[in-house]
Amino acid sequence: MSDFRNVQGKVAIVTGAARGIGKGIAETLASEGVHVVMADKLELVMESFEEVKAANPDNKGYAVVLDVSSEMEVKALVEGCVEKLGKLDIMANNAGMHMDTGNVWETEESQIDRILAVNFKGEFFGCKYAAIQMIKQKSGSIVNTGSFFGKVGHAGSATYGASKGAVHTMTQALALELAPYNVNVNALCPGLAASEMHWAFVQADADARGITFDEMKELELNEIPLHRYGYGKDMAGAIIWLATPSGSYVTGQLINVNGGLDFT
Ligand SMILES: NC(=O)c1ccc[n+]([C@@H]2O[C@H](COP(=O)([O-])OP(=O)(O)OC[C@H]3O[C@@H](n4cnc5c(N)ncnc54)[C@H](O)[C@@H]3O)[C@@H](O)[C@H]2O)c1
Repeated sequence: MSDFRNVQGKVAIVTGAARGIGKGIAETLASEGVHVVMADKLELVMESFEEVKAANPDNKGYAVVLDVSSEMEVKALVEGCVEKLGKLDIMANNAGMHMDTGNVWETEESQIDRILAVNFKGEFFGCKYAAIQMIKQKSGSIVNTGSFFGKVGHAGSATYGASKGAVHTMTQALALELAPYNVNVNALCPGLAASEMHWAFVQADADARGITFDEMKELELNEIPLHRYGYGKDMAGAIIWLATPSGSYVTGQLINVNGGLDFT
């Protein structure tokens, strides 16, 4: 097999990998022969990694419990990966959170601090330590998880949207900084994805409209041209492309992976 689309033997870190999009990314990468280090603040990541390992016994990855808002913990994550597995080919900075803050005038400073600490600083630290390693290697691919909420403002999500907008511009800046080192940096922008985070939105919208959860899901699906929610494997398809010669000319891009929901 040519290496044009082949990720066999590569090493990846996926943050936010206990569940949802991140777990799906890790499962798909592992099924393509990538050794995957799965990191999350939830202990559940241990169980999620065991599932990945059971399906892919040759996988040399492992699970790490950490908080991505801690620079020292992210540094240890990246350095530990390089020490154990020898390199880092793919950094998928995916861990993120949403919090119901209400409108701008109702938002507490502590909520702003936490959302920015996890969604922006968490991805920033992942970029920082992956960059330090990838500069030495002169190879690698960094893929951040952005959002369509980071491209267009949505009522009730000013802070979350700003955190993702910050991820987008950081992605572009780092792409320019790492271009001389043969490292590409991009952000994926999911639309509506099947995950615990999104089901909380669906429930809140359903409650606000006085309809059931399933009725709200059907309304949403009607908004998505491909008429299905996004999954981690959809994001993994783009990550595999970006991490191989087939996608190596793509850098600094905010790539919608959203079933046609939004064209911005
Ligand atoms: N679900 C959607 O519709 C949607 C849309 C656009 C973007 N996103 C983004 O996709 C990413 C994945 O979200 P998801 O939808 O799978 O949600 P999710 O809540 O199911 O998964 C997020 C994961 O990140 C982990 N996490 C949160 N804070 C952390 C921290 N401080 N340190 C380490 N891990 C932490 C959580 O424990 C969880 O396992 C997030 O960055 C989110 O903002 C999701």
